[in-house]
Amino acid sequence: MERITKIVENRRYKACLSEIKSLEKSRKFCKHNKKHFLDVARIAYILNLERKININKEIIYAAAFLHDIGRHKQYEEGIPHEKASAEIAPGILMDSGFSAEEINDIVNAIEEHRQNHGKTSALGKIIYEGDKLSRKCFSCKVKKKCNWKEDKKNNTIKY
Ligand SMILES: [Fe+2]
Ligand SMILES: [Fe+2]
Repeated sequence: MERITKIVENRRYKACLSEIKSLEKSRKFCKHNKKHFLDVARIAYILNLERKININKEIIYAAAFLHDIGRHKQYEEGIPHEKASAEIAPGILMDSGFSAEEINDIVNAIEEHRQNHGKTSALGKIIYEGDKLSRKCFSCKVKKKCNWKEDKKNNTIKY
């Protein structure tokens, strides 16, 4: 998991996270921080094991740790964050030692993480599901005000 440590220590990665942190200071809804990324990574990895999909662990963690990394651009510039994250991720992945083919799969899954349909890749699907399953909608005080559709909300504990 050396390359995941490299992502977390990456300068651009840290800069994006601190920008997101300051922009989400007064946010009542779920935040987008390392805790969220780790939750998504672990759940996606459990799904990978349960379903015997056999995607490499570092690839899953890389996608999970980068899927929301452009969130600040959504707040600041109105760019959908899956697009912003897909733009920021390649440089960080390259600096962390991922190959062009791996980067392609990871960035694709980042772009896919807000929708789950027939064409979504196997990696995109487990990141999408891990993203939803990581949220504590079952005990959320602002659930009624949240703009997530009812079918996306994690109303029961599964993982
Ligand atoms: Fe997201
Ligand atoms: Fe997320």
